[in-house]
Amino acid sequence: MITGIKGFNDILPGEVERWQHIEDTARRVFSLYGFSEIRIPILEKTELFRRSIGDTTDIVEKEMYSFVDKGENAVTMRPEGTASVMRSYIEHKLYAQDPVAKLYYMGPMFRYERPQKGRYRQFHQIGAEVTGVTDPKVDAQVLTMLCHYFAELGLTEPTLQINSLGCPECRPAYRQALIDFLRERLDSLCEDCKRRYQTNPLRALDCKSAHCKEATASAPAMLDSLCAGCDDHFTATRRHLERAGTAYSINNRMVRGLDYYTRTTFELVTGLLGAQSAVAAGGRYDGLISDLGGPAIPGIGFAMGVERIALLLGDQHFVGRPDLFIAALGEEAQDEAFRLMCGLQRNGVAVEMDYEGKSLKSQMRRSDKFNARFTLIIGGDELAKGAAVLKAMDTGVQVEVPLTPEEVAARIT
Ligand code: HAM
Repeated sequence: MITGIKGFNDILPGEVERWQHIEDTARRVFSLYGFSEIRIPILEKTELFRRSIGDTTDIVEKEMYSFVDKGENAVTMRPEGTASVMRSYIEHKLYAQDPVAKLYYMGPMFRYERPQKGRYRQFHQIGAEVTGVTDPKVDAQVLTMLCHYFAELGLTEPTLQINSLGCPECRPAYRQALIDFLRERLDSLCEDCKRRYQTNPLRALDCKSAHCKEATASAPAMLDSLCAGCDDHFTATRRHLERAGTAYSINNRMVRGLDYYTRTTFELVTGLLGAQSAVAAGGRYDGLISDLGGPAIPGIGFAMGVERIALLLGDQHFVGRPDLFIAALGEEAQDEAFRLMCGLQRNGVAVEMDYEGKSLKSQMRRSDKFNARFTLIIGGDELAKGAAVLKAMDTGVQVEVPLTPEEVAARIT
């Protein structure tokens, strides 16, 4: 038997309806906020992710599915969507008419992480990005849309945490202060943090090791070192969130695993998924478009983990019910049932029958399995009259109906 690859999952019928609900709800909610879909390729030049996510991040250092293709090109299966969307935005000059673009995407992403509950090697994101607006109203709008989406799914548990990571003006001094702080505590840090405290000191604030947590408890916070521009931006974002009625808390130790962020960063966190607490995450990336060779246009966005949302939705039932199950007794009645089924399906009615149905009992068992709203029973006597018995499964009420698609459809819709 050939099995699937570890960390790469099948999404089977029964489960896939939950995914469709997650995706349909995103399309519906995002369209209220003026977003259009963009579809980006799975494979990109490796250079794209090195330049955007950053060479010293875990993703680029250890997690990318990168290879050299038959044409000797270094390519990578996308570990996230923002870099690709911005590459496309620049390449197709989407900014030429109007720098403001509101784009969303959904699809698989790939990271070579250690698989566990809520963490996979192929996982799925639904993401949204807005370009061309610096005003903090857009930060609040993006966060409000994200929270609206979760409310629409009936999920109130993940809560919004926000932070600011400053900008190229104020972050270097903060970074240096953090390096100086960490240098004095090097002996208490884990091997990873020791190794990268100069190249990526912020990661120490996010380290899961108990020693690092203790050693960095009194570390300086970016929020206390923001320049006037970033401080104003953060204050205004908070004010607009309050105006929008979007609840949040501040987490001044939140750092993100990607280097392109500036100013506002955020996560929707839950305590229900063990170690994988972030259900959605994102932030502003005002320098990314120009770093990738485009004009100086700001951006902000987020991505949600579909597997994690599906876990939060739990066993809720999203599988639809067919309108009708047709049970037929005898070969002639079976043929009639088949003709009727095809006619009804063409008329927009969801119909099932047991193609190989033998006894009425076994057909009724199948009918129960499908949980159809109505069952139509065609027996020899009814067939002779050109009629059948239609039973409403929820009430048990039975009526005799003429055997035409139109007559049957009229009674069940
Ligand atoms: P990220 O924090 O790397 O950000 O990923 C966003 C979300 O994807 C996470 O919060 C999580 O729900 C899900 N996720 C990440 N890795 C895995 C995994 N191995 N298995 C299952 N789910 C996972 C980004 O990707 C940014 N592009 C977000 C963004 C968009 N920032 C601005 N715009």
